[in-house]
Formats: sequence, structure tokens, C-alpha cells
Amino acid sequence: MKFTKKDFLWGGATAANQFEGEFNKDGKSWSVLEMMPYIKLEERGGMPLSNSKLSKEYLEKSFENKEGLHYPKRIASDHYNRYKEDIDLLAEAKIDVYRMSIAWGRIYPNGDESKPNEKGLEFYRNVLTYCKQKGIKLMVTLNHYDTPYTIAQKYGGWMNKEVINMFVKYAKTLFTEFGDIVDYWLPFNEINVCSIFPMMSATFPEDHPNVSFDQLRFQTLHNQLVAQAKVVQLGHEMLKKKIFGCMIANMTNYPMDCNPVNIIEWQKAEQTYRYFYFDIIAKGVYPTYAIKMFEKLNVKLDTNEEEMNILKNNTVDFLSFSYYSSGIIGKKEADQSGGNLISMGKNPFLKENEWGWQIDPQGLRYTLNDLWDRYNLPLFISENGIGWDEKLNDKKTVDDDYRIDYMKQHFMAIHDAIEDGVNVFGYTMWGVIDLVSTSSNEMSKRYGIIYVDYDDLHNGTGDRFKKKSFNWFKNFKETLEL
Ligand code: BG6
Repeated sequence: MKFTKKDFLWGGATAANQFEGEFNKDGKSWSVLEMMPYIKLEERGGMPLSNSKLSKEYLEKSFENKEGLHYPKRIASDHYNRYKEDIDLLAEAKIDVYRMSIAWGRIYPNGDESKPNEKGLEFYRNVLTYCKQKGIKLMVTLNHYDTPYTIAQKYGGWMNKEVINMFVKYAKTLFTEFGDIVDYWLPFNEINVCSIFPMMSATFPEDHPNVSFDQLRFQTLHNQLVAQAKVVQLGHEMLKKKIFGCMIANMTNYPMDCNPVNIIEWQKAEQTYRYFYFDIIAKGVYPTYAIKMFEKLNVKLDTNEEEMNILKNNTVDFLSFSYYSSGIIGKKEADQSGGNLISMGKNPFLKENEWGWQIDPQGLRYTLNDLWDRYNLPLFISENGIGWDEKLNDKKTVDDDYRIDYMKQHFMAIHDAIEDGVNVFGYTMWGVIDLVSTSSNEMSKRYGIIYVDYDDLHNGTGDRFKKKSFNWFKNFKETLEL
């Protein structure tokens, strides 16, 4: 089968805290995830690390006791020192677009400085310019789970409206410095995740003892939504282009069966876990079911008319989302399969990867149709891929046929969605070069078509090797043959 849409953008994605390393070089401050030590699966009881351990007390304690502990994201894939080699490989794979993130703490280490850190700007200028020299388009995330820890300490994280202003100042610096070379901007990675785990955005319940957890998570989300809308407004004013999107962790679910009670349960889950975020971002208003949900949870947003107008008048130009797998929902909780931050209902029709994530290419076609019909905004798949525990073989490669199959099936699903009439304009495979997992902090959960020679404790050379999927992808790009 031939993929017929010629101007579709194919590419790969990474994130600063999982990829760069050199966590404190050239003036950079810590981000929360760089404070998280590696803990073996057995010792953390099988739960995703961010679920079980990401409390301020825990992070600070483990930080003090750093003797003997390993902090994977501090070294990550050492991209900071190897960026040229990495970009050369991406160009060789023939990617059209590279989605990367900028670490806020490299530019404004404490968030509240009046001037940016020149060394941080210099690093990103080098990376971005080199990509452009290689003919690669750029999609840049401003905050991929990367709020500086200093903002948690001094300001209590995103509960504080002052952080909105600091984020807008940071965005202004980036638009001024790099507005001419970046093709697309995403203010936040998976903005919805902070409403499940506010700690992922450096906002800790311990710092707000008089606030209920529901109030904390939805206020954190609201403040980030306002920050995103303000950044979109600023970007439109400064750069005068329609290149501003959002990024939402998309959790597609199916009803467990056709029993009407399960359909109602599924519909509610769709509203709560998916449409809620897309609705606010695409339509600029809180939907009525969300207002009802807030009433039930006794959540009273600290907001005003001005903020609501900002949300209303600064919706995004396109919707981007991550899609890895799907789940099922019913009145009675289904058996659970894996996931990174939350688990999903097990679907007997689907296979799983080694971490229990269900593989569902048809779900991508369904999701694309669903989002296009509902919002009529161009779509971009900013993360998709399969994690697998891999080792280099004697020929210094990995025969990752399962990844080739995964990509092929998902690319065909995109093709079919386009045939259905969906306006989707690009795809960036997650962790195109191996990097540290967000949830499990493992290096061994690999997503890339390029292997990085580090193990979970960062033994190894850090050298890069092409997997079999690298050649498959390159060939696909040249022929568009599936
Ligand atoms: C997405 C995140 O949720 O999933 C990435 O944006 C993350 O940062 C990816 O790495 C895969 O999850 P994990 O936990 O396997 O790394």
C-alpha cells in the first residue's frame, strides 16, 4: 500500500529531561524528574514510579541520600554533548520534523530572573540551527514535565498565578530568540497530566495543606491552561503565524460491551479523561459537564472574567496528542492492563507490549476521526511508539521486527483516517533515539529506531547504533510504501 499524502510530516520526538543529561551544566537548575532516583521494578511494587514516589518529601530525602542512588535523567542519553551526531542520524533516517523540548531551567533557572541564561540560549541555538542546516523542521515544546524545582520551593508550583507570568516571560524569550527558525510550538507536554498528578508539574500537596487534592489538581490545570492561552496570544502577536498547538495525553477507551449502563459509564469517562481537555483548549470554555463535576468535587476555581476571556479568545491552531494504546470502561472496573501514569481496562482483542500497554492501531484511526469530527482543527500525532527491552546483538544492531510491525500498522491507520477525510498533518514517533522512560525511569524501556548504549544504571559507552527499524523507516520515507 502506498501512503499518498505527500506533504505529511514524518518525524521523531524527544524531551529535554529524558534525553539531554548535563542536568546542572552551564547554569541549569533541577527539574523534578531529575531528582527522581532509579528504583528496580520489584522494589517499587510494579507501580509507575511517578505514581508511587513523586512526593516532595520523598524527592528531597532521596536527593540528600544520593550516595549509592542513581538518577537516570541526570545523564539521560547525553544528547547535550552528542547533539550533532544525533541530528546527523535523524537526517540520515530522512525525518521531516523533529519534536524536541527546551528545558525551562536552562533559560530561567529560577523562573524569576529578569535576564535569560545566555549559555542555555546558546545550546538551543546550536541545536535548532543545526537541524535547520540539515533540512529538518522543528516542533518545540516549552515545558515537557520540566518546571524548575526552584519554582516549587519558592512559589509552591503552579498554584501560584505568578508562575503564569514567569512562563509567559520565558515564552517571549524563546519567540524572540528562535521565532524565525521554529516551525511549530507546543506550550505544554500532556497538559492534562497535571490534573491527575500535579506533582509532575512541580506542584506538591504538602505545600498546600489547606487545599483539597481535587482543588489542587484542577487549579494547577486551570493556571496552566491560562498560561498556554497567554502564550498562544503572545505567539500570534509576535510571530503572526498559525503554528501554535496543544499536546494532550489522549486516553482512548471503548465501552466494555453494549450494556447501556456501561455505555453511560464510558461516555462519562470520555468526558472526564479526554473531551474535557480538548473542549477547553479547542473551544475556549469549560464544558457544562466539567462545571457539574467541579460542583460534585467541591472545586471552586480561583479565576476571573479576564482569564476566561483569555481562554476564549486564544484557542490553538492545531491539536496534537500522544497515542500509545487504548482501554475499556464499564460500570464494573475491568481487569487492568499497563500504562505509564495510569493503567487501562484490558481488552481481550488486543495484544500487549512487555510493559502491558495494549497495541491498538485501529484505535488511532478511531481517535483521529473522533477528534476531527468533534473539533475540525488540524491534527498532529506528537507521540506514538512501542517500548521494548532490547540488547545489541553480535552485529551491533537490534532486530526489532515488533517495532517495524507497530509502526507499519499505525502508519496504515493514519492512511485510512486520511482516506476517511481527517485532516492530520504529521506524526512524530516517541523517543526516536532511546531515552530514559518518564514513568519507570528505566533506560531499558526503549522506544527508538536508534539504540543508545546505556543500561538502567548508565553502564555503557552511550554510543548510538541503528536498529533494523531505522532502515525500515528510511526506506518508507523514500518510497512511502507500506
Ligand atoms: C508520554 C510522555 O506520556 O509517554 C513521555 O510525554 C513519555 O515523556 C512517554 O516518555 C512514554 O512513557 P514512558 O513512561 O514509557 O516513558
